[in-house]
Amino acid sequence: MLLSGALVFALAALSQAASPCCSHPCQNRGVCMTMGYDRYECDCTRTGFYGENCTKPEFFTWLKGTLKPSPKTVHYILTHFKGFWNIINNFPLVQGTIMQYVLMSRSHPIDSPPTYNSHYGYKSWEAYSNLSYYTRTLPRVGNDCPTPMGVSGKKELPDAKLLVEKFLLRREFIPDPQGSNIMFAFFAQHFTHQFFKTDTKRGSAFTKGLGHGVDLNHVYGETLDRQMKLRLMKDGKLNYQMIEGEMYPPTVQESQAEMMYPPHIPENMRFAVGQEVFGLVPGLMMYATIWLREHNRVCDVLRQEHPEWDDERLFQTTRLILIGQTIKIAIEDYIQHLSGYNFKLKFDPELLFNQRFQYQNRISAEFNTMYHWHPLMPDTFHIQGQEYNYQHFLFNNSVMVEHGISQMVESFSRQTAGRVAGGRNVPVSVQRVAVTTIEQNRQMKYQSMNQYRKHFLLKPFQSFEELTGEKEMAAELEELYGDIDSMELYPGILVEKPHSGGIFGETMVEIGAPFSLKGLMGNAICSPEYWKPSTFGGQVGFEIVTGATLQRLVCHGVLRTDRHRDVSHSIPFFDGDNRTPRSALIITSLNQYHFASHCGRVYH
Ligand code: HEM
Ligand SMILES: *[C@@H]1O[C@H](CO)[C@@H](O)[C@H](O)[C@H]1NC(C)=O
Ligand SMILES: *[C@@H]1O[C@H](CO)[C@@H](O)[C@H](O)[C@H]1NC(C)=O
Ligand SMILES: *[C@@H]1O[C@H](CO)[C@@H](O)[C@H](O)[C@H]1NC(C)=O
Repeated sequence: MLLSGALVFALAALSQAASPCCSHPCQNRGVCMTMGYDRYECDCTRTGFYGENCTKPEFFTWLKGTLKPSPKTVHYILTHFKGFWNIINNFPLVQGTIMQYVLMSRSHPIDSPPTYNSHYGYKSWEAYSNLSYYTRTLPRVGNDCPTPMGVSGKKELPDAKLLVEKFLLRREFIPDPQGSNIMFAFFAQHFTHQFFKTDTKRGSAFTKGLGHGVDLNHVYGETLDRQMKLRLMKDGKLNYQMIEGEMYPPTVQESQAEMMYPPHIPENMRFAVGQEVFGLVPGLMMYATIWLREHNRVCDVLRQEHPEWDDERLFQTTRLILIGQTIKIAIEDYIQHLSGYNFKLKFDPELLFNQRFQYQNRISAEFNTMYHWHPLMPDTFHIQGQEYNYQHFLFNNSVMVEHGISQMVESFSRQTAGRVAGGRNVPVSVQRVAVTTIEQNRQMKYQSMNQYRKHFLLKPFQSFEELTGEKEMAAELEELYGDIDSMELYPGILVEKPHSGGIFGETMVEIGAPFSLKGLMGNAICSPEYWKPSTFGGQVGFEIVTGATLQRLVCHGVLRTDRHRDVSHSIPFFDGDNRTPRSALIITSLNQYHFASHCGRVYH
């Protein structure tokens, strides 16, 4: 009796014993696999390391390791020595070679084809093939592990609300030292919400963005059914309405394309665009309107080239052109600005044609998490001398119609965005989002920030002081977490010490850049069979792609007020009458107060 009781007890203890993989023993991207209940094996295949825990470098790994400069050094070089880079930037061959290196070294850390998802911490056909999941860059922490991060840290993580209040919440607005403006912030939100579209009905592990990348579903709709509702079905164009002579998206009522609006929004202010949630912020609706105008403009250009084409072909080709423009602008304007590099980035798919590179992409849950850049948002929005708080701004499309696109652009270009890293800069109005993010990451059993750093070949932080670069928050974090190896990813990147004069810290840059460039260059249109003029309707369409800039896009969008106006390239900005432009437009570099270039000059 006593004996069998002890046996039952022992068996129970055995079945609850932590998996030996909980301690993440395999280093250098080796894969941990349990062997029975109490042993593990590290699979070090092609990691360049060997030994029980993949810790011993092979000769060439060791050699590369000693020769390779650290990410800190590379970042320093790229963000300094302006004179040197100005010379390099003028030699296309050298610039191309460096860009090729940037692309290859950045895309290398991303597993492609993708591997895990939030339910499968091992390779499986289900995880690979089910596109409804975000992929996972690191597998989930096992349910049977002793602590939420595996074996390190305390049994319970600090209360999410407490973390947000202590470390993330804004006390006083901290401007981004790189000078990003609100125009930039809304570009970030608009651009990324075509692939960050969590399927909240299913849970945070799931996405509604089945294209997993830059497919412009935020312009055209996720489904064919929605696309048809948004299309004019004539000349390839998207449906629109004219308000006081300006082109805007159609209403929900007219298009029958559902959107998320609260009940009190009047029928005529419920605009319908590809992304269902873009009614949330007028900044998103502004970009949606600009892209809508651009689509219809490009249709006109294409139709001049191809009077023989039907609606369908004009539509499809224009969509490919807009995808190309988006990638071009994302790399050469948006990432260029974000990076702070003095080296001039270049969008040239041909750089990868002689390299080993997979033209596919899967959006990672961790990428989504890291892109929660809510600290960019100000406390109030200033448009044309008026100040809007969140309550008056959100879900209020009248803001856009009342001020018009050009005034919004003008105003958003003048207003500075907030710094993302460094802590305590999440606006009070969106603090709930930060809390939810932390809670969802925990449900999805994310590994620790240091595990992610190691996966992306960064040294793990040794202490909280090394993480934050100061003492006060570091001490409090240490008390709450107990161990730097249990620091979580999302609060971690938001409290991380920023690069000097930078918007982000090292972790955001070194992990974010690979996801970002892989997503952009992994697009089908960048592959050899697609990247040629005929894909884009010929040389004219191809040049719309290769010549795209954010400034051109916005200027065309502002210009495009009247559908009857000729929009070919030779037509100048001014109407012919004495109407002066309502705004001088800005955004060559996205730097604040950069008013040197006006729309009129686009055509020179
Ligand atoms: C007025 C400004 C903003 C408001 C009110 C807002 C609000 C929200 C809300 C309510 C969510 C859903 C949270 C949840 O339930 O999980 C969300 C998600 C998100 N936000 Fe924002 N946000 C704003 C600006 C931004 C900006 C500027 C960015 C910059 C990139 C951003 C990035 C994200 C991302 C990546 C998600 C996750 C989306 C998804 O998984 O579907 N947001 N935001
Ligand atoms: C491998 O890691 C385990 C667990 O962390 C450790 O106990 C063991 O000593 C390591 N083996 C070697 C050869 O370093
Ligand atoms: C993907 O996985 C989810 C959850 O298991 C399931 O509900 C869904 O049907 C799967 N989708 C496909 C296409 O198999
Ligand atoms: C929406 O914006 C308009 C025009 O800018 C403003 O007059 C109105 O009060 C706002 N509506 C709400 C509900 O705040």
